[in-house]
Amino acid sequence: MQELLEKISKKEAKIGVIGLGYVGLPLAAEFAKTGFAVLGFDIDKDKVSKLNDGISYIPDVQTEDVHELSKKNLLSATNDFGKLKEEDVIFICVPTPFTKAKAPDISYIISASEQIKANIRKGQLIILQSTTYPGTTDEVVLPMLKESGLKEEEDFFLAFSPERIDPGNKTYTIKNTPKVVGGLSERSTRLAANLFSYITPEVYQVSSPKAAELCKLLENTFRSVNIALVNELALLCNRMGINVWEVIEAASTKPFGFMPFWPGPGVGGHCIPVDPYYLSWKAREYDFSTKFIELAAEINLLMPRYVVSMVADALNRQKKAINDSKILLLGVAFKKDIDDPRNSPSEAIMEMLIEHGAGLSYNDPYIPSVKIKGKVFKSVSLTKENLSSQDCVVIAVDHSSYDIKEIVEHSQLIVDTRGVARKIISPKVVLL
Ligand SMILES: NC(=O)c1ccc[n+]([C@@H]2O[C@H](COP(=O)([O-])OP(=O)(O)OC[C@H]3O[C@@H](n4cnc5c(N)ncnc54)[C@H](O)[C@@H]3O)[C@@H](O)[C@H]2O)c1
Repeated sequence: MQELLEKISKKEAKIGVIGLGYVGLPLAAEFAKTGFAVLGFDIDKDKVSKLNDGISYIPDVQTEDVHELSKKNLLSATNDFGKLKEEDVIFICVPTPFTKAKAPDISYIISASEQIKANIRKGQLIILQSTTYPGTTDEVVLPMLKESGLKEEEDFFLAFSPERIDPGNKTYTIKNTPKVVGGLSERSTRLAANLFSYITPEVYQVSSPKAAELCKLLENTFRSVNIALVNELALLCNRMGINVWEVIEAASTKPFGFMPFWPGPGVGGHCIPVDPYYLSWKAREYDFSTKFIELAAEINLLMPRYVVSMVADALNRQKKAINDSKILLLGVAFKKDIDDPRNSPSEAIMEMLIEHGAGLSYNDPYIPSVKIKGKVFKSVSLTKENLSSQDCVVIAVDHSSYDIKEIVEHSQLIVDTRGVARKIISPKVVLL
């Protein structure tokens, strides 16, 4: 342990990052910027060769930085997992999706752990960062690593640290967001906390990997539940003829005990729609049903269907149907100003509009094409002519680059699921 602490203090510790996506690449780049030599591991050959050519494919990581860091030999990538042996610290940042039946799919963690097991050596620190259910680190990863014959907390160290990266967030980055760390024992926790102190100003230590794993699920479930609350309120307000946006804005003037959440077309990404299911699944092992959490997920899941019903109602008032109407959807990313469409509610909305026979197109400045129901759609340009030729424009994502005034001015009918047109008084605007 002392040896690794010394290597870290001299920045001689070699850092390996398995999984170079939205989480792994920014983490790798941050450690490299601090002066640690970082080697990324990914099964995606394209990502590996891009990084070795000094090119970033993640918007939050600048290509100039990757270029500079690879020139200084501080950042490189490989798909040769045998090189894991050479690393002193190994981060696991692989995906944790769910299956069709909404059960956790930790197969990526298992395959990364297999690679580590095959290459583990004495003195290494392994830190799992993928979001997962409480127990993954010590019930899944640890037994696999022990099969190597090495002993935990003596020969190798193991900790969980939740990832809090928020793609597209310019205010909070790795650099100013505290890290939470829970190791198998105080030794692993201290080692991991010590390492993180080089890239973040505050490290909060908890007593176990399980506490750290649950901390991440609490953070995301908190968002899921609060978003579901305002989504439900939006549905009620719609029936009562009350503007939900005005109500939330008014409640937000209370300086204590209230935090605004905003309704929308549903939740997307790989965290908020996924993580509550990880927790509910694990809870069942303890004969516990997480009713509150599952209800929130259910309400959020209903929202894309509700948006389609709003479009149908809005067109109906103009004596039109979705069938054969030209509908333009704005935004397929799962949230504003990012290029990630995973689990986006827009996908579900587009699928349903196609099923209803809409003449559908979309625009997203960050996502040039999407595949929906086997058909590839290309982002169309947002010209006045295109807007005015649509029967309905659906604002599904509030990308900052959208000029809402222009959009409202040139469209015939707008269904606004993000409340961005709420200050524009126009009969053309239908608000969630
Ligand atoms: N993206 C976010 O905003 C965010 C935020 C917090 C937590 N998380 C969590 O972090 C984890 C990673 O998410 P992400 O968004 O970076 O995913 P991602 O899909 O962007 O990146 C994962 C990378 O892992 C690689 N990979 C998969 N299996 C591998 C293996 N066996 N060996 C090596 N590489 C492998 C993939 O090729 C990919 O490049 C997930 O658990 C996610 O829930 C993500």
